[in-house]
Amino acid sequence: MAWLVSAADKSYTIAVIPKGTTHEFWQAIHAGAVKAQRELAEKGIKVEVIWKGPLREDDRDQQIQVVENFMTRRVDGIVLAPLDSQALVAPVVNAAKAKIPVVVFDSDLKSDKQISFVATDNYKGGVIAAEYLAKLLGEEGNAILLRLAVGSASTEAREAGFLDTLKSNYPGIKVISSDQHGGATRETAYQASQNLLNRYGREVNGIFCPNETTAIGMTKALRDIGKAGGKVKMIGFDSGTQSVLDLKNGDLQGLVVQNPMLMGYLGVMTLIKHLQGEPVEKRVDTGVVLATPANMAEPKIQELLHPPADKYLK
Ligand code: BDR
Repeated sequence: MAWLVSAADKSYTIAVIPKGTTHEFWQAIHAGAVKAQRELAEKGIKVEVIWKGPLREDDRDQQIQVVENFMTRRVDGIVLAPLDSQALVAPVVNAAKAKIPVVVFDSDLKSDKQISFVATDNYKGGVIAAEYLAKLLGEEGNAILLRLAVGSASTEAREAGFLDTLKSNYPGIKVISSDQHGGATRETAYQASQNLLNRYGREVNGIFCPNETTAIGMTKALRDIGKAGGKVKMIGFDSGTQSVLDLKNGDLQGLVVQNPMLMGYLGVMTLIKHLQGEPVEKRVDTGVVLATPANMAEPKIQELLHPPADKYLK
């Protein structure tokens, strides 16, 4: 990173604002941000990273308040994962007007005022899930999609990738439900999953859930009715501890995983690069892969299933 050489003795205060703070996914993001902070310090750039977000991923008012508070504090920049692609547009536009640059990460925003978007190719994540589920089902059967939340651009893109792929490539697979949302917690996802299985448990053959909480909730509900263990093919998203265990014990047949540590790391690095007056990419893709029982022991997959967050957060 040649741009770092001429940067000694600089110091910045930046805010990193996740969608929520309870999921393991966000802890890995935080670890990536701290990793960037430590590397910058070694290069003589002192960065104070303030980590603050809503407790729940559906608390729009709180996330808006957090952004506005950091604007009032006049931080040098903001790295934000907007929990609603529309509701956070105004705060980001106001930050840009106040000359506080914003890097959006993880989940897209319906604005062009951010200086960069650092995230997974979420649509591709949904395509990967659909193709693997179709393979497991022999390209025929009944499928369910349990969505996460209205306004969550990241998971909406996964959901679209999944449905578009089944519709265009797998006519033998019938989507029997795709309009239910799991909501912000494992508990709400578990309840939504139970409701779905009460209605479709006898006819469903395969299910896709687009994040940690929906995957964990649905897999638990499948176990409750004795349909886990591959009886219903289950594809999840995100490498939470429970989902990794479910992949290992055969209750999940596939887990689409992101690289949250890289996302947090590049979110901070991209903002600092911009603050240093360097050009930055408008779109940074942090990668997405499918973990399965067959490949989960491979070192590269292990690293994504068990991101070394503790090394940076303890
Ligand atoms: C999930 O929300 C998405 O925005 C993240 O990518 C992650 O998959 C957190 O529950």
